[in-house]
Amino acid sequence: MQEFVGKAAFVTGGASGIGLALCRALAEAGGKVMLADIEEAALDAAVASLEGSGPEIQGVVCDVADPASVEAAAEATFSAFGKVHFLCNNAGVGARGGVDHIALNNWRWVIDVNLIGVVNGVRTFLPHMRAHGEGGHIVNTASIAGMINRFHGFHPYAATKFAVVGMSEGLAVELKPFGIGVSILCPGVVRTNILESARNRSERYGPTTPPDPANPLYTRLAELVRTGMEPAEVARRVLEAIRKDELYVFTHPETREAVEQRFQSILAAFGRAAAPTV
Ligand SMILES: NC(=O)c1ccc[n+]([C@@H]2O[C@H](COP(=O)([O-])OP(=O)(O)OC[C@H]3O[C@@H](n4cnc5c(N)ncnc54)[C@H](O)[C@@H]3O)[C@@H](O)[C@H]2O)c1
Repeated sequence: MQEFVGKAAFVTGGASGIGLALCRALAEAGGKVMLADIEEAALDAAVASLEGSGPEIQGVVCDVADPASVEAAAEATFSAFGKVHFLCNNAGVGARGGVDHIALNNWRWVIDVNLIGVVNGVRTFLPHMRAHGEGGHIVNTASIAGMINRFHGFHPYAATKFAVVGMSEGLAVELKPFGIGVSILCPGVVRTNILESARNRSERYGPTTPPDPANPLYTRLAELVRTGMEPAEVARRVLEAIRKDELYVFTHPETREAVEQRFQSILAAFGRAAAPTV
């Protein structure tokens, strides 16, 4: 879609990081924007921070893991803006740990937010986007961890991001006839609040152990995030991808080599299938 003026966007995880930057970019491009987030105080602050940057900016509290909550947020958005053309399924959380130490409840939490959250967004908004017939665009935030998982202890996170990539590739094919584009956002490290994800971990997932700031892996990760790419730069790429209807959105060229290596090893495995050794 080329034009944002007169159109409306629904952005999950809009209160912080990449989501907030996306909201700002969409608003500055002339779109009406609904920020949807589970963290009410941060949401209010985010909406206030965007005041004046676009024609209409509103916020709605929403837990993407809960279909009823997403439906209620969608209804609020339709009431406010009428039609929605841009759906950014961006809310996401990370929980890490060695494979033997990841609690089942952490798997559930990460899967519920990062994968079922995207499913809930698509299931709720797609019938509306198809019905209004004006076309639109869905941006699903995956990660470079949806292309490669070489990172110690990110298995639930990577599993959900690989799933988002797979789901989005299929959606792109299915939605093309309706004039609805799909982009899969796969950033490397971005300077956001992702390492404090547990701030929004619902009590229904039981107790969790907070990250240990003395753990060298955590310290290294915290430094990477602190010096990571600015969210505004990621948002700039996303708007370009929407305009050009690009499926894959990469932001960190330095991650290319690792993806290439993975594909090479997959191709080599096909080579062995074609010429099996006896
Ligand atoms: N920061 C990075 O390095 C990086 C890299 C690749 C991908 N990503 C992805 O980018 C997306 C945004 O994360 P971020 O880095 O901006 O982190 P962030 O913590 O700054 O923002 C995430 C937002 O999602 C919200 N959220 C969390 N659980 C929610 C729920 N159940 N319902 C609704 N909102 C919820 C949070 O309140 C927060 O506002 C995530 O999907 C993340 O996996 C981040």
